[in-house]
Amino acid sequence: MTPITCIEDLHRLYLKRVPRMFVDYCESGSWTETTLRRNLEDFARIQLHQRVAVGVDQCSHRTTMLGGDATLPVALAPIGLCGMQHADGEMLAAEAALDFGVPFTLSTMSVCSIEDVAAFVKRPFWFQLYVMRDHAFIGRLIDRAKAAGCSALVLTLDLQVMGQRHRDIKNGLSTPPKPTLRNLANLAVHPRWCLGMARTRRHQFGNIAGHVEGVSDMSSLAAWTAEQFDRGLNWNDVEWIKNRWGGKLVMKGILDPEDARRAADCGADAIVVSNHGGRQLDGAPSSISVLPEIAARVGRDCEVWLDGGVRSGQDVFKALALGARAVMIGRAYVYGLGALGGAGVTTVLELIQRELDLTMVLCGVRSIAEIDQRVLHIPHVAMWR
Ligand SMILES: Cc1cc2nc3c(=O)[nH]c(=O)nc-3n(C[C@H](O)[C@H](O)[C@H](O)COP(=O)(O)O)c2cc1C
Repeated sequence: MTPITCIEDLHRLYLKRVPRMFVDYCESGSWTETTLRRNLEDFARIQLHQRVAVGVDQCSHRTTMLGGDATLPVALAPIGLCGMQHADGEMLAAEAALDFGVPFTLSTMSVCSIEDVAAFVKRPFWFQLYVMRDHAFIGRLIDRAKAAGCSALVLTLDLQVMGQRHRDIKNGLSTPPKPTLRNLANLAVHPRWCLGMARTRRHQFGNIAGHVEGVSDMSSLAAWTAEQFDRGLNWNDVEWIKNRWGGKLVMKGILDPEDARRAADCGADAIVVSNHGGRQLDGAPSSISVLPEIAARVGRDCEVWLDGGVRSGQDVFKALALGARAVMIGRAYVYGLGALGGAGVTTVLELIQRELDLTMVLCGVRSIAEIDQRVLHIPHVAMWR
């Protein structure tokens, strides 16, 4: 096999190994996918400031997130249905992340349940919560996350309604699921994936199935889930969840400085500047473009992280330069997982570490704390007009 030298190599392998409807589910953004593209394009536009003869023989990529040590300023973002990208995907990704020394976040909409992951990794991980209409259910989920030893709750605030992804509807990956004949036939040409799925019993929303009365099969599960997203979501709900949880709280899905201020005042230990990977409000700005203003506004009161479009160590470096303390990666790790299982997630983290290391040396910085706007090349605007 040709050596894997970048995340794009894993992406190519991922496209071969994972059935079409789950690839589309991962790759898609909402509506015209403009925000999805902006996340990538705006990172590509940022230029770095090269330095020479600085003498960087020692370079540390270590940092802390929520007071815990991390090998890299990177955490795995919550990804729904990860267990359909690879059999037992959430368990494998969690193990790879924790072995590497970075946090893993389990989605509410995961295939492996909180208890599955806790029994498998036997170490603390983070749990992501969607605010649902059924507060009794949310309360039980929070209790289950506490009982499983989760060390932080990542509260996602930008899914009060579901953004529309055309490809998912066309593929029948909707509620209830109606896979098309073409998609079923496509499963047959992915024997490795099918074999993995045949070997596991985990095939549906593990945190929900069996935990809500009257919800037993895939169809009732899908219908229940669809009616649970809460358009009425407001800061009182956030306050209620904060009190019910009582531990480290991260608020995810923030793009506006005023919202960031409100989140910090409401007691967020960290916020994630995020547009949900371009899957919610199409037309919203890229996360990286709004980061500096938000970091300036609340960076002293809580940790500011970013996600959306991070595909390399250089991207991590750029986000840190523009004010993020750390980043979350979504699709980048899904590519590794779908391509090679847990080993693929490890490879993604190794690649990011190597790229970050080289970038730091070539820009003349020795530690994560030293990365600030001075490492960016801001061209003489007049020259480029
Ligand atoms: C396939 C997929 C599923 C996702 N599921 C969730 C989820 O269940 N909860 C959540 O808060 N965010 C979810 N997200 C958003 C990610 O947590 C993260 O914000 C996004 O992937 C970052 O962008 P990136 O993929 O460009 O790194 C999902 C994203 C993708 C691509």
